Amino acid sequence: MNAPLKQHLIDPEICIRCNTCEETCPVDAVTHDDNNYVVDPEKCNFCLDCISPCPTGSIDNWRVVAKSYSLDEQFSWEELPVQEQIDIAAAAESGDDSEAADDDAARLIAEAHLGVGGKSVAPASASKPKINLYNRGNPAVATVSGNFRLTDVAADNDVRHVILDFGPHVFPVLEGQSVGIIAPGTDAQGQPHKIRLYSVASARDGEKPGANNIALTVKRETGGVCSNYVCDLAKADKVQVTGPFGATFLMPDDPGANILMVCTGTGSAPFRGFTERRRRTLRDAPGRMMLFFGARRPEELPYFGPLQKVPDGLLRKHFAYSRVPGEPKTYVQDRMRATANEVAIFLNNEKTHVYLCGLKGMESGVEEAFADICRGAGLDWPALRVAMRGSGRYHVETY
Ligand code: A2P
Repeated sequence: MNAPLKQHLIDPEICIRCNTCEETCPVDAVTHDDNNYVVDPEKCNFCLDCISPCPTGSIDNWRVVAKSYSLDEQFSWEELPVQEQIDIAAAAESGDDSEAADDDAARLIAEAHLGVGGKSVAPASASKPKINLYNRGNPAVATVSGNFRLTDVAADNDVRHVILDFGPHVFPVLEGQSVGIIAPGTDAQGQPHKIRLYSVASARDGEKPGANNIALTVKRETGGVCSNYVCDLAKADKVQVTGPFGATFLMPDDPGANILMVCTGTGSAPFRGFTERRRRTLRDAPGRMMLFFGARRPEELPYFGPLQKVPDGLLRKHFAYSRVPGEPKTYVQDRMRATANEVAIFLNNEKTHVYLCGLKGMESGVEEAFADICRGAGLDWPALRVAMRGSGRYHVETY
């Protein structure tokens, strides 16, 4: 039997046949007939180059399938097929890690495409996001107003807090959305560099309240063209930005919503945005926020200093360190099990939203921890997970 696959599809009901995707695709995976534009599953390599130029969003559709839909099947469609029910856990394992290896670009795929029961759902009370306002042909030009190292100088990882100012250009973002960065120049084949996606780490009203700017949390990847470009940006440099992207990994506006966040490394970016939003607008919200954050050592944990200062009443914090000399290796899922009672109280509340962001590898471990915690608390995790996903209360963005 074939392992489940992710398949990139185009929504025939929304597509306006502008041919942008076919022109953009670097591997000629997009083609068309008189009825539909379609993606050849044999050729598509999930580079996501076609996503931002598409003016309608019809290009941003995905299914997890046991067997790919053929070109002929896609040509015949008047609408997209519903997501078939298959073994999603196995599908997640068959993800395209090669794409994920360089920078953060696989986040969109993970967010939108690996959910039980099909596409992710935004929280009911989330604000409506703006998406795809800027693309490669029409990028927003931002000015760098700061680039600060977040990890200790002696740390293995160089993680940066980069602030981009949009000046007079309108660039609305919501917490949890991503933006694309276009590194200047061309690759060895003379092609423009791929657009790389980074989560916004600031709140919707700006890194500085009321300023038209955003913050990104970017880790320097060995050999990563875009991450090195961003990490080396200097104040006053100009940067081409696309997006915003992401319509589901969003924060509920409901002050009663509890938010349970689990992250590793730069996966903390959206949660900094969530926390800042609550701190600025709903400091005394009845809803609770809890964060599980994994890093090698405290020196490697982005925002470690500022996070210590966030009061427990606003954000309950649990850190998990895997490489502190003389201490046992601890992952976020271990910390979750160690605080099972707190987690169970969150899970047992219909107003709780769960968010996972960071290394793909943590996904299965965190899921197992949720299952164990539920078992101990008399909750049915598989049923709860399906219900939470269906109501836009369970979100995964891993890469
Ligand atoms: P490890 O020490 O085993 O690499 P990084 O610093 O590479 O961004 O990773 C962030 C943290 O995530 C590290 O503590 C890392 O531990 C941890 N990590 C790695 N794999 C997993 C996993 N499968 N589940 C949870 N945490 C993980």
